[in-house]
Amino acid sequence: MKKILIAIDGYAACGKSTLAKQLASHLHYLFLDTGAMYRAVTLYLLDNNINWVNNKLLNDVLDSISITFQRNENGKIHCLLNGDDVEEEIRSMHVSNKVSEVAAVSAVRKFLVQQQQIIGKEKGIVMDGRDIGTVVFPHAELKLFVTADMDTRVQRRLLELQSNDIQVSEEDIRNNLIKRDHEETTRADSPLFKAADAIVIDNTNLTPAEQFQIALNLAEKIIGA
Ligand code: DC
Repeated sequence: MKKILIAIDGYAACGKSTLAKQLASHLHYLFLDTGAMYRAVTLYLLDNNINWVNNKLLNDVLDSISITFQRNENGKIHCLLNGDDVEEEIRSMHVSNKVSEVAAVSAVRKFLVQQQQIIGKEKGIVMDGRDIGTVVFPHAELKLFVTADMDTRVQRRLLELQSNDIQVSEEDIRNNLIKRDHEETTRADSPLFKAADAIVIDNTNLTPAEQFQIALNLAEKIIGA
């Protein structure tokens, strides 16, 4: 069966990763959470007190960062930073508050986009992020742009953090999402926008299963299943 590349872009906390994981698992494709890669770089810079603004040595710093993914015993994919499991830390508010600043730095984007393009070369992959259909894989066979209204996004992120035992107020989450939406859509390098040929899925009133079915139908039309 033909292997394709599926690009899923959209705002934070819109359910992109949930959808990407479901599609990857059903189609036996690889799943790549590119947001985790930006989060891992942010964690590294914060932990090592490295300034990312106008830092001429940033490329050297980036070269010392290795980001890999590994499936744990429960089947969950974890992000590893230089070999250490950082899956939990990269989801903390400490990282969430800074990640869109780091993701706006061109050297960081260049470093990660290059790796994403290598990983996606083989096709048979579902990649979620902000610039997958516009920059990383502008020729992806299927591009989805996932959206949901703000209240829904706040509630989803709250549940996600609570399920990981991370305590944070609803107000902090809302402010973080508003700030990130603004930073991600207005940055100079690779701002978030819908590719002209992307299909919008507004999942405000959809269950994960309903959203998955819509996306799977679209994918199967292309794959010819
Ligand atoms: O999807 P997420 O919330 O885990 O993404 C974390 C941050 O990384 C978010 O601020 C946007 C940024 N990002 C990006 O700029 N480009 C991507 N392809 C993926 C994420």
